[in-house]
Amino acid sequence: MERTLVLIKPDGVKRNLVGQVLSRIEAKGYSLVAIKTMNADRALLAKHYAEHEGKPFFEPLIEFMTSGPIVAVIAEGNRVVEGFRKLAGTTDPTTAEPGTIRGDLAADAGTKVVQNIVHGSDSVESANREIEIFFPEFAKGR
Ligand code: RTP
Ligand code: MG
Repeated sequence: MERTLVLIKPDGVKRNLVGQVLSRIEAKGYSLVAIKTMNADRALLAKHYAEHEGKPFFEPLIEFMTSGPIVAVIAEGNRVVEGFRKLAGTTDPTTAEPGTIRGDLAADAGTKVVQNIVHGSDSVESANREIEIFFPEFAKGR
């Protein structure tokens, strides 16, 4: 069964939206395989966001992601990678469709980096890579 890595970002935790995000994942029929609240450090996030290194929003992104606790989740289900990205909506919360997590729960915060409540892996390969970073005990082949 396919798995994806979801992160509820510091804005989502601060605004007490963890329950709402988890409800949407469950309501869609996906299972919650693992959940933990954590403070991600710079080294872990630099690995996770390696593809964005050197981009103008990289430093603000790391700063934002270390600004408070996050909740890391492994969700499982048929085509969950694509399915969760649809639930999340597009990156920019202003134009994310109503009905999506970002469309319903986030607005442009006017900050240096887009604060959009959740992260979701963008492919099965990314999911495997990211699950290994956040949940080494759930990595494939262990
Ligand atoms: P994610 O990885 O968090 O699920 O989001 P995504 O695929 O929709 O967006 P991505 O392009 O991977 O960017 C990662 C996160 O960086 C922040 N960002 N800010 N111009 C900006 O200010 C900007 N661009 C990206 C967002 O938090 C985005 O989700
Ligand atoms: Mg991404």
